[in-house]
Amino acid sequence: MPRNSLCLKIPKITGEKAITTANKLGVIDKELEIHRNNTHIYIPITRNLLQEELKKFKKLIPNLEFSTYTFKERKKHPATLLEILDGKLPPHLLGSLPRAIDFVGDIAIIEIPQELERYKTEIGNAIMQSHKNVQTVLAKAGPVKGKYRLREFTHIAGENRTETIHKEHGCKYYVDLTRVYFSPRLSNEHKRVTSVVKEGETVIDMFAGVGPFAILIAKTHKNVKVYAIDINPSAIAFLEKNVRLNRVGEKVRPILGDAKQIVRQQLRGVADRVIMNLPEKAMEFIGTACEALKPEGGIIHFYNFVSLSDSLENLKVRFAKEIKKFGRKVEKILFTRFIRETAPYEWQAVLDVEIR
Ligand SMILES: C[S@@+](CC[C@H](N)C(=O)[O-])C[C@H]1O[C@@H](n2cnc3c(N)ncnc32)[C@H](O)[C@@H]1O
Repeated sequence: MPRNSLCLKIPKITGEKAITTANKLGVIDKELEIHRNNTHIYIPITRNLLQEELKKFKKLIPNLEFSTYTFKERKKHPATLLEILDGKLPPHLLGSLPRAIDFVGDIAIIEIPQELERYKTEIGNAIMQSHKNVQTVLAKAGPVKGKYRLREFTHIAGENRTETIHKEHGCKYYVDLTRVYFSPRLSNEHKRVTSVVKEGETVIDMFAGVGPFAILIAKTHKNVKVYAIDINPSAIAFLEKNVRLNRVGEKVRPILGDAKQIVRQQLRGVADRVIMNLPEKAMEFIGTACEALKPEGGIIHFYNFVSLSDSLENLKVRFAKEIKKFGRKVEKILFTRFIRETAPYEWQAVLDVEIR
């Protein structure tokens, strides 16, 4: 709502100097927007200037005038986590507040350091206050582990649930964070891999999860066929739901089972492209990827972890050696990148490789 207020009217040429001075004096009304026209700027103030202040001002800006103006109100941004928690947490702990928050649909996920454990409810509530779309806050309660790559969570604020609908690059995904793997941190990879797929290709997503590669590829390209395999029955149940939700049923075929067996039994020599997003075990599946590719070859998107003592160069060498074991050859490394830090001194990396 526009509001009438006392203000400083200043020729535009000295405007920035005036704002700096008024700011230093703490007289600007921060709830209102400074107004500018072709000749003047109007700075809303909360009080009259004291004699001393006026003198100082006139020295810098001789043709300063007092006036009134109807100002627009500034849009209020929700307070930051730090602002909300200032005064609620011991000051020396404010620096330990988690900097990274993952958002999956309307669920926020954080990692609570040991020293903040007893303040987790306050932190959860503060996240809900500072992020109006968030309905649930979960804290990570352990690492991603097991065959299905799952993590445990502790509920710390809002609705007590782990299921949501996540939106990514125009697609929607049903996800239950305790039953299936999903990371919003792979969003760029889902998009990047999709962007290099060509019309007419057959793609095998060997570790598909709820389908963020498979569904985006199908949604983006007219003429593609994607086989999306996962060993976790819940992942396949969600993937099937997501295929329907995103209307890509003609292009994506979800398959429940071990990628090794599925490829051997149903998908030998059919793929132009294979996606291998199971970094902790991908090396063990290179033979399967080779089997899945067409006899003339194709592309493999290979995800793996690289630690400080290792290097991307070593990873390329190990990958090429493994490929050779299965009678194939690395024709060209098309792309390499560190995607994200997954643990102290450990990164997830990707190699896009052309195989013959
Ligand atoms: C890191 S997640 C990747 C999910 C998905 N690509 C994404 O970007 O969200 C790895 C997936 O591989 C599945 N998986 C593990 N071992 C498998 C196997 N032998 N065959 C097929 N899928 C497997 C897990 O259930 C999990 O959903």
